[in-house]
Amino acid sequence: MNLSKRIKEAQYSPIRRLYSYANEAEKEGKEVYYINIGQPDIPSPKTFFEALRKFDKKVISYVPSQGTEKLRIAFSKYFNQFNYGIEPDDIIITFGGSEALIFAFFAVADTNEEIIVFEPFYTNYNLFASLAGCKLVPIPTKIEEGFALPPYRRIKKYINSKTKAILYASPNNPTGKVYNEEELEILAKLVKEYNLFLIADEVYREFVYDGLKHKGIMQLEDIKDKCILTDSVSKRYSLCGARVGCIVSKNKELMSNVLKLAQGRLSCPEVEQYACAEVIEKENEFVMMCKEEFKRRIDAGIEVLKECEDIVYFKPQGAFYTMLKLPVNNAEDFAIFLLKEFELNKKTSMVAPGDGFYSTKGKGKNEIRISFVYEKEKMCEAIRIIIEGLKKYKK
Ligand SMILES: Cc1ncc(COP(=O)(O)O)c(C=O)c1O
Repeated sequence: MNLSKRIKEAQYSPIRRLYSYANEAEKEGKEVYYINIGQPDIPSPKTFFEALRKFDKKVISYVPSQGTEKLRIAFSKYFNQFNYGIEPDDIIITFGGSEALIFAFFAVADTNEEIIVFEPFYTNYNLFASLAGCKLVPIPTKIEEGFALPPYRRIKKYINSKTKAILYASPNNPTGKVYNEEELEILAKLVKEYNLFLIADEVYREFVYDGLKHKGIMQLEDIKDKCILTDSVSKRYSLCGARVGCIVSKNKELMSNVLKLAQGRLSCPEVEQYACAEVIEKENEFVMMCKEEFKRRIDAGIEVLKECEDIVYFKPQGAFYTMLKLPVNNAEDFAIFLLKEFELNKKTSMVAPGDGFYSTKGKGKNEIRISFVYEKEKMCEAIRIIIEGLKKYKK
């Protein structure tokens, strides 16, 4: 019996694949800082738990495949604070931003068709493309250039008859880059010229620092029918486990076809949708509190990174991650070393090897991604472990 080529060729998540080493480290009595993963330690909003207690039904039932009306209304009002012009019918609720991306990939690309992405990118795009059978075409961006998008002429060279969409995340995981208006206008021009879809992953929308402004995909004029927005409550409200997100588009044909996928998986969870609607309606201040907190963590963590001249880094403009270029040949081996062989005051850090954030073979081998998910003292300690670990590590 043979398993499918599709599943065999799919990747294990680079964010999660070293957990066995972390478990061993904990068994040996070390405390592990999990800066490999985007799971913030910020307590979820009280409104969520109050709503759970208030939820009063005799049967937990399927709800409409496109999501409950209450949640779609809450999302549309939330989006319209940013002048996105979204109606509840432009929204299909999904199982996190992850399912929204899977739906988007299935909807725009057939087998072997292409979606352009900017490398490094959120690693699970690789898996979603394997599932949908389409191909990600990576365009490199560089840490030394602040992960800026390449100019119009360079991006254009990657477009061919198989290209169906351009996908970007802003604020970006793993780079911390926030694309500016000029960069997004270039993408808008290209999708217009070549009649492509533009998919924006905006799960970190509010987490933009140092006076920068987030330009949203739905604020781009003239290309509304080509825009697909994917979103999630996971990070904004520290509700990663609620598994609630959405896919949004003004393109009626696209949304009516995406509904087939939503109907096939029947329904998203009823109770979480109810509680998330309450959170979205009431917790704007919570989001701002998270933003301030992430900014404090990033500012403090970057000060520690400055102490080590051998690490190349980019100070995140948004979200709460960054890629670090290390003076090692094999960052995965270094990550394992930190867990297996290294400790500082009985503590160590788990980091994500960088190669999984690329689809180009051989890239990212000397990079890691870290997440600013702990409060600032712990965050500084977690980064100091990397710096001290490098001094002991034999390449
Ligand atoms: C850029 C980006 N998109 C999408 C997701 C998916 O998140 P979720 O499925 O929890 O909404 C994540 C999670 O880390 C992410 O970083």
